[in-house]
Amino acid sequence: MADLRSYQGVEPQLGERVYIDRSAVLVGNIEVGDESSVWPQVAARGDVNFIRIGKRSNIQDGSILHVTRRSAQNPHGHPLIIGDEVTVGHNVMLHGCTLGNRILVGMSATIMDDVVVEDDVIIGAGSVVPPGKVLESGYLYVGSPVSQKRKLNSAEQAFLTQSAQNYVDLKEDYLLDVSSI
Ligand SMILES: CC(C)(COP(=O)(O)OP(=O)(O)OC[C@H]1O[C@@H](n2cnc3c(N)ncnc32)[C@H](O)[C@@H]1OP(=O)(O)O)[C@@H](O)C(=O)NCCC(=O)NCCS
Repeated sequence: MADLRSYQGVEPQLGERVYIDRSAVLVGNIEVGDESSVWPQVAARGDVNFIRIGKRSNIQDGSILHVTRRSAQNPHGHPLIIGDEVTVGHNVMLHGCTLGNRILVGMSATIMDDVVVEDDVIIGAGSVVPPGKVLESGYLYVGSPVSQKRKLNSAEQAFLTQSAQNYVDLKEDYLLDVSSI
């Protein structure tokens, strides 16, 4: 059984055919859209703000998802919003940012508060995206701090959808194997 914990009476909500590994921990105000998957050792804390994960997205092993509280200076705080068909690689840190659709976040990348990643973007492994930065649709970004490297080619654009599909297929295998749930 997945470890879904309530915080102040609010529990994570899961869509249809979602896979959450039983070693992942999801707390509080989190919604996970249909066909998405959350892999071993992910920690997602929707306590001081909310987390939304869209459809057909995957959050890979060891990633950490958190948010920033509301305050007088920052009335909305920073929720964490992840769109559809997003691949979040292993050991990624996502904090209070907004990701569009069809994005690949490379392994061990860090994305900080108030960042907006537009649709169809690849972020290289190990990149750091500083607070408030906007990553433009259709580009590859790498580095720490991140910088725009080049336009994505058509194969890379197609791969963004394929990567999401691979994880939709993979989580189906896991859902069929009841011993892994
Ligand atoms: C970003 C990535 C897709 C680029 O792949 P690529 O096709 O080899 O890219 P390019 O050869 O066009 O590289 C462009 C430049 O960025 C540099 N670069 C590539 N990946 C980089 C990274 N992660 N960090 C810093 N620089 C990087 C290259 O060295 C090259 O530099 P140069 O222009 O000075 O020669 C790939 O390196 C990567 O990080 N993939 C992430 C995979 C992943 O984590 N998947 C999720 C888990 S399944």
